[in-house]
This record gives sequence, structure tokens and C-alpha cells, in this order.
Amino acid sequence: MGLCPFHSEKSPSFAVYTDTSHFYCFGCGAGGDAVSFLMRMERLDYIEAVKALSQRVGMQLPEDNYDDGLAKKRLRILSANREAAKYFYSQLKEPGSPGLDYWLGARRLSPQLVKHFGLGYAPEGWSGLLDHMRAQGYAPEELAEANLVSRSDKGGRTSYYDRFRGRVMIPILDLRGNVVAFGGRILGEAAARDDGFKEAKYINTSDTLAYKKGRDVYALNFAKNTANGRLILVEGYMDVIALHKFGFTQAVACLGTALTREQAQLLARYAEEVVLSYDADEAGQRAAQRALEVLGQTNLKLRVLKLTGGKDPDEILHSYGAEKYRQLLEGAANEIEFQLLRVRGDLDLSIPAGKADYLREAVRVLARCTRIERDIYASRLSEELGVSKEAILAQAEQARKKDDRKQARDRQRELMKMQDRQSLKTDPQRGLHPAAAKAEERLLGLLLRHPDFYLKLRETLSPGDFVTPFNRELAEKLFSRLENAQGIEHELLTGILSELEQNEAMRMKLSCESISNPWQECEGCAQKLLAEKAGLERVNVGELDEAGYLEMFARLKKG
Ligand code: UTP
Ligand code: MN
Repeated sequence: MGLCPFHSEKSPSFAVYTDTSHFYCFGCGAGGDAVSFLMRMERLDYIEAVKALSQRVGMQLPEDNYDDGLAKKRLRILSANREAAKYFYSQLKEPGSPGLDYWLGARRLSPQLVKHFGLGYAPEGWSGLLDHMRAQGYAPEELAEANLVSRSDKGGRTSYYDRFRGRVMIPILDLRGNVVAFGGRILGEAAARDDGFKEAKYINTSDTLAYKKGRDVYALNFAKNTANGRLILVEGYMDVIALHKFGFTQAVACLGTALTREQAQLLARYAEEVVLSYDADEAGQRAAQRALEVLGQTNLKLRVLKLTGGKDPDEILHSYGAEKYRQLLEGAANEIEFQLLRVRGDLDLSIPAGKADYLREAVRVLARCTRIERDIYASRLSEELGVSKEAILAQAEQARKKDDRKQARDRQRELMKMQDRQSLKTDPQRGLHPAAAKAEERLLGLLLRHPDFYLKLRETLSPGDFVTPFNRELAEKLFSRLENAQGIEHELLTGILSELEQNEAMRMKLSCESISNPWQECEGCAQKLLAEKAGLERVNVGELDEAGYLEMFARLKKG
């Protein structure tokens, strides 16, 4: 058992079954074999996952002969992006190009750093990139799919034009070094034009087959090698680049969106600790608070760096240098200190009302800490406010119990919702016939555990007795294999059941793990199912249309 890599959790519900090489998460229902694990984990498609696995164990994979249209398209987008990045980089050296001046002058970067990050420039004009790429054999449609050019259908005529114009370019690389997207920044500050239109400071690649916003973390491809367990998370591209310039090569950014759970999990795979170093302004501090909540769902240790003397890390570094930032980094508040500072806000602690307000919020912060932390901070608060430590601890304990109860309730509710969603997705009929569906799932689960029950079971039950279509189809497949003396072990069902069916079969099997009298239970479920079915038929006859009536009649005759 371990923590599930596919959803956020703090206590393990992710099981790996080494005997059959599959996995299942009791929390979120993810399940499958090594291939589907790698597909989800590394976000590969089927072919890529098989390739990666066979490479790892030194197996030769037969080339081609498979349908990988989507994978080919993705590869094509990635190669277009790489070519485009080269083009943008080469544009820095064009005579009269303002790009290099921007990076070396306005941003005070070195040529090495420009090269390291692959920074570039997209010239003014509508077709610089488009023409270059066409000459390299890329069709405009492909470039539009890569979001490198835009398409216009004005006046019934389709035309294409460069999406990034007159902007300095920042390529975004994934962990394997693919160029998956770009950010493009205007050269000056964003100002409103005469007609009131204000150009965006940055434009970024929208989602493509090779890129999804909120999935990658900027510069993690570099930072993961030097992180040494600790990453610095900032808001902007420019902050990352400045931090690298000053030697903080463990800096990464989440880019334009609020930090997503996916990004948080990615960070947790490469570090034990994350130091948040967001902009000093109100918006930045709010974003930091939100990011803390998302990161709080992981096992990461968290600290928050409070900037003083500048608006963002980029500015601090360029105004005061690396030493100042290093001090801020070392002094970064841990999460508890950050939360205490936050709830303290600008309450006036010299008056009783201010103290009381602060204390009320502070004990709620302490409630979420470990015992030792609670003890330490209760002492500090007691000194600071002149309130007895015991009183603070007692209040915190009360708040903790309340929190625990609420959390348990929320978790339960969440889990039920998740399971409901999962099963309704598989079959809406399940919601209409819950009792029958439950008996069916038990039956199938037991059968999967004890295939030898089949010979006895088929005397009472056939797949046609299953009420909900999803389970009926699953039963048909399993029964027919058993009828032909074929096995129904997980690994034998790969090509036979759909992925959804496999997952569901796994779930049913696992939920029958600790049944003391399996055959008795199996028989009971069969009876229950037959009774449910009979009940349904009695009720429904009057409502059946002609086709339904004939079907029922045929079934009765057969049965
Ligand atoms: P900032 O405005 O703080 O940008 O936005 P920055 O990186 O510090 O850049 P400079 O120093 O002003 O040039 C933080 C991040 O939010 C995203 C970008 O990823 C940016 O790095 N952003 C911002 C956009 O995507 N679009 C925008 O219009 C603005
Ligand atoms: Mn900024």
C-alpha cells in the first residue's frame, strides 16, 4: 500500500498486487496494469508506454504496423515546436532585431543564459515563422494545430498568420526536454492603444495535443537535477530566469494559472520541500495562500518567503543581489508562521478585542499542527499575548477535534460522491436498480475470486438474469469464457474487456476480499438478483412498448 499518485491523499489507499502485476486505488478507483500505470503516470499513449517499458527491460519492439495516428500528430507538433524555437533563437541575431537587446539589455541576461533557456524573438510581421516552417515542410494546418499560427476565415477565404509577433519568446520544455509550448512577451510595458485595446503582456500557447495548461511546471526540467530536495516556486517566467542567473537553479514556476493539483503532485515527485516565493503584492499573496492549500494536499514541507523591498524575486535580485535573497530564503517562514502572520493581519494586539480575535484564529491554525509544533507555538503565543499556555492548548485541542470530525465527514462524502460518479459513469441503469446492481457486483466479484463457482452457479443463473446492462455484458463475457473452460484471471482479460470493464472488474473483485463464506454469499446474491429481476418484471409489464414486451416474452420462454 502507498500514497496514490493519481489523486491527493495523506493516508495510503493505493495497492500494488505483485502477484498479478496490477494496481488499484481504493480512493479514486484508478486501476490497471504496468502499461496503463505508465500511461497515466508519464502521460504517454499506449504505444509510447509499451515502448518505454520494453526499453527498460531490454526487449525489442517490432517497429510500425500499429495505428498511432494521434501519437504521430503529437510528435509532429513537438518537432514543429522545436523547429520554431530554433527559428525564434536565430531571430535574435538578425540585424536590427530588438530581441537580443531586450534580453541582454533590459533583462541583463548573459548570452549563455539566453542560450540555456532557448530564449528568442518573434519578429513583427504576419508570416515570418509561417514562411520559415513551410519551407521546412510543415503544412499551415499542422502549424495551427501546434498553435504556432492562427487561422482566419474572413470573407470565405482561409488564411494563416503568425500568432506570436513582435514578442520575445520563451520556450516551455517538459521533463523529457520536448518543447511543448511558448510564452511570448511584449517588449515594453502593456499600454492601452488609442482605440482602448490593451495588448496582453504575455500570450501563451493554448492547449494542443502536446500541451495542457496547468500540467507542466516551467523549468522543472532544469531544476529537478539541482533541487536537492528543495524547489523554489515563483509566479513568473522572468523570476525563474533571474533566479537561475543568480545561482538559484532550483527555481520553477507554474505559469499564468493558479497552481493545479497536477502540478503540486509533480513537484512532490521531485522535492521534499517547496519554498513559495510569490510576488509581494496583494494578488501574489492571495495566490500564495491558494497554492499553499493545493500543496497542503501533498506530503511536501512548505515554507513561504516574504519579499521586502521589491515586487518580485526578479526585481529583488537585480536591485539587491543574491545574498539578500539567500537571507530571505533562509528566513522564510514555515507554513505555521505564515498562517499566524496571515490571521494576525493588522489586528491591534494592544487592545483586548484585538488579542481575542487573533487568539481565536490562531488556535485554529494550531489545531492543524503536530503535537510538538502546537506546543512550541502555544508557548510563543502565550508569551506574546500574556495568556496561559494551558488555555491556548486546551482551545487548540477543542478546535482540532472539531476539525477532525468535519474532515471525516467531508472525506466520507467525497468518497461516496466519487464512487457514485464512477458507477453512474459506467452505467446509468445502476442508479435505477441499486439493489440488483449491488447483488450483481458481488456475484461477479466472487466469481472473479473463485472461478470454480461457475459450474454450480450456472445452474441457477445466466447472464440474461443480470438487470443492469453494464454488468450483464461483463457477465456475458466472463460466463462465456468459463463455459469454454478459459480462465478469467486479470491478465487474461486484457484484450477481452474494455479498460473500463477491467477497472470495474478489479473493483468488484477487490471488494470481495474478506468474505468468510464466499459460496454462501454467492448463492445469496444469485437469489437476491433473481428476486429483484422478478419484481422488476412484474412492475414493468404494463409500461413496456411492443419491442420490450416481445423481448421479455422471449426471455421468459427461454428461461
Ligand atoms: P507577471 O506579470 O508577474 O510577469 O506575471 P513576470 O514574469 O514578472 O514578467 P515581467 O517581469 O513583468 O516581465 C506572472 C506570470 O503570469 C503569466 C506569465 O506566466 C507570467 O510569467 N502571465 C502574466 C500571463 O500568462 N499573461 C499575462 O498577460 C500576464
Ligand atoms: Mn512578476
